[in-house]
Amino acid sequence: MRLPIAALALPVAVQAANYSGPLRPQVHFSPPSDFMNDPNGLFYDAKRDLYHLYYQWNPYELIAGNQHWGHATSRDLYHWTNHPPAISPSNADEYIFSGSAVLDRNNTSGFFPDQDDGVVAIYTLDTAEAQTQNIAYSTDGGYTFTKYTHNPVIDINSTEFRDPQVTWHAESEQWLMTVAYSADKVIGFYTSPDLRDWTHASNFSRADLRGEQFECPNLVKFAADKHVLFISVNPGAPLGGSGTYYLVGNFNGTHFHPETANFTLYEFSKDNYASQWYTDLPDRSSPISIGWASNWDYAEEVPTGELEDWRSSMSVPRQHSLTQVQGVWTVTRSPYDLSAVQGRRLPNHNHTDGVSVDFSSVQSKAIYFEIDISGLPADPAGEVRFHFSSPAGDHLDGGVVLDTGLFWIDRAGTQLYTAANNTDFTPLSNTSVAVDGGLAFAGVIDRSVLEVFADDGTQSATVSYFPSAPLDRLAVGARGLSDGANVGLAAWGLDSGWVV
Ligand code: FRU
Repeated sequence: MRLPIAALALPVAVQAANYSGPLRPQVHFSPPSDFMNDPNGLFYDAKRDLYHLYYQWNPYELIAGNQHWGHATSRDLYHWTNHPPAISPSNADEYIFSGSAVLDRNNTSGFFPDQDDGVVAIYTLDTAEAQTQNIAYSTDGGYTFTKYTHNPVIDINSTEFRDPQVTWHAESEQWLMTVAYSADKVIGFYTSPDLRDWTHASNFSRADLRGEQFECPNLVKFAADKHVLFISVNPGAPLGGSGTYYLVGNFNGTHFHPETANFTLYEFSKDNYASQWYTDLPDRSSPISIGWASNWDYAEEVPTGELEDWRSSMSVPRQHSLTQVQGVWTVTRSPYDLSAVQGRRLPNHNHTDGVSVDFSSVQSKAIYFEIDISGLPADPAGEVRFHFSSPAGDHLDGGVVLDTGLFWIDRAGTQLYTAANNTDFTPLSNTSVAVDGGLAFAGVIDRSVLEVFADDGTQSATVSYFPSAPLDRLAVGARGLSDGANVGLAAWGLDSGWVV
């Protein structure tokens, strides 16, 4: 239910910013200025019908440091309002690292004697001496927080212990914290009746996941009565720098048991890290996540900094389900309901060698597109390519080779920043998709971020790229397809989520 505006009655401070730069994503969240990394504290406030997004923010510089919890809110996850930082360091020697936030409806914490909408944030306090878990509470719906006077709530005398994700474990009626012993590559589980006193429940270790440190774990319950443990690793992830794995299993209130020895790399590209899942969603909602659309290999040097005074955006909000692919439970993902920003269907232009859409008249230069290949024989031949281009000669390419199912995306043609600037900015993302009489994939392209969803949403890529002028044309072409094969393109302009 949406409350009338008057019922909100909150003295909400709004922070103005300029979102007009040609590299600024229009349907992806990016910070008002300076450097952003992980999403933090994602919770949905049903009372006010409002999604909160906090994030790691250095409000003073274009590189990581001075970590605060930046803050924004949205009713639809695409139109965001920026607010002043929600949690700030108390002195220059401490940093407010990543964490989560929960609604404490039943006042289990005792911080909220007179209300059923108190918010508790659980974060890592980082200092030169230690990383400890701390809490802060908000009586105004998540805009301002008071740090608990008896912090830290967990201190194990470690400098590598961070990123608490807290959820309510309904079956055992207690709070559950999932947290990383980062350098040990171990995930810890703690339980608490009140968010203040925490008891260690178990550890889960997976030293065989490639990468040096574990960060930002999230344990997510799916409707299939299964839990999925997402673990971000950095540096040394399989595609270089930072990346995220997930494992499907069961959680019994104290221990996580993976169903199989399998683990899956969440994406086949380099730019999706530290995803967080919304808490307090309405019961029947599918899980919703937002990830950081960058990579520690180059996040602090991409050209949006010098040119437009900001660095890094988030992924689009994604909705998820679990499905079986050849007997293996797999997480699906797709953009969360785009209707809040979806504009007009763009006309297709047919050419002898394919079909194109011109989106130069779409003010945001952001579009949603679907490409559908059908009518293929059992042994398909040929390939289909998609090609985004700008009037300045930039291009971003991709395609699928039909006999092998090789699906690729290549960002080498976007000219402002390439592997020549930083060899870790590798151009190619590859995977293999199922080609079974046909295939379909969809994507959102948004000035400097492309997200592609393939294989019925069981595979995805987030690709940051930096053109010298916005890409504004999409051409889809085919070569060597068998008779009867068909390639369809449908694209819609997207409206900006920012008032610029
Ligand atoms: C992951 C991370 C977290 C940490 C935060 C600091 O990107 O390194 O482990 O809490 O960033 O900004």
